[in-house]
Amino acid sequence: MEKIWTEKYRPKVLDDIYGQERVVERLKAYVEKGSLPHLLFAGPAGTGKTTSAIALSKEMYGEHWKAAFLELNASDERGIDVIRHKIKEYARTTTISQRGFKIIFMDEADSLTQEAQAALRRTMEKYSNNCRFVLSCNYSSKIIEPIQSRCAVFRFRLITDDNVKKWIEHIAEEEGLKISEEATHMLVRLSEGDLRRATNLLQISASTTNDITGEVVRQSANIARPQDIEDLILSALKDDFVVVRNKLDELLIEHGLSGGDIIKQIHKSIYNIPMDNWHRMKLVERIGEAEYRMVIGSNERIQLEALLVQFATEKKN
Ligand SMILES: Nc1ncnc2c1ncn2[C@@H]1O[C@H](COP(=O)(O)OP(=O)(O)OP(=O)(O)O)[C@@H](O)[C@H]1O
Ligand SMILES: [Mg+2]
Repeated sequence: MEKIWTEKYRPKVLDDIYGQERVVERLKAYVEKGSLPHLLFAGPAGTGKTTSAIALSKEMYGEHWKAAFLELNASDERGIDVIRHKIKEYARTTTISQRGFKIIFMDEADSLTQEAQAALRRTMEKYSNNCRFVLSCNYSSKIIEPIQSRCAVFRFRLITDDNVKKWIEHIAEEEGLKISEEATHMLVRLSEGDLRRATNLLQISASTTNDITGEVVRQSANIARPQDIEDLILSALKDDFVVVRNKLDELLIEHGLSGGDIIKQIHKSIYNIPMDNWHRMKLVERIGEAEYRMVIGSNERIQLEALLVQFATEKKN
């Protein structure tokens, strides 16, 4: 089986990390000095937190980095006691490195409860003579103050569209793919600054062909053509419910889209359809209500139809 691209293309050195120049610069300074405080990496998914922790360790320790790097996941372990036990065992084994400390990387630290974080803080103190903690989270505000104040905080940013584009072109070139402007543009838009998502979407698109067009991406990402969604909305606004039902059938049954996918696209498209602002606000409010009902488990088909009926009645009011 082919290796998944997020691993295959995970940058191995700090310099190859995209779009986090400030973070990379500061981390390289630690490597040069050969010392490290505890670190807190905060930022959205797929922006390079885990990648940076691994690259940092590789540069700190060279080829034997794995012996000096323990990776834990705060959310899938069986609680803080198990985590502390693992840390204890790891901290006890002799320090192999010339650096005098080893790295403990803890992913999803913000999933720990306050009590668990308090316990973690004590553990950090206990082993800080020979271990450095690198904690990763999406929101630093969910990390208790005493931990934050013991760490150097690094903020990871969403990857800019420009950099996502370069990343996609980089992989496409390595993989020998032909990729159209439209496809690249769509992948950038769908990724929303998340390079893991960009990489996965590209790999799924490339699983059937080397010629990546907009249509290939659309099918892989399970999205409808914007034109179909706009037609759906316009037909509803025109009271043309035979067309609305047919279009919905086409999207749900033939294209296999989910109600959630469709409603997200309706939300995006509503801004492209000319109407006065007040009217648009009303429709967005309705979209929000229908989306909420879908999330809590209501029938998707009924919610979509009801939403489109409301589009027609809102217009009459
Ligand atoms: N800044 C980046 N530069 C290059 N590739 C990246 C970057 N960020 C993410 N990637 C790609 O996405 C994959 C996942 O990134 P990573 O594991 O570093 O994300 P993360 O920030 O730790 O996300 P999460 O919050 O979900 O743990 C990497 O293997 C790599 O392929
Ligand atoms: Mg991660």
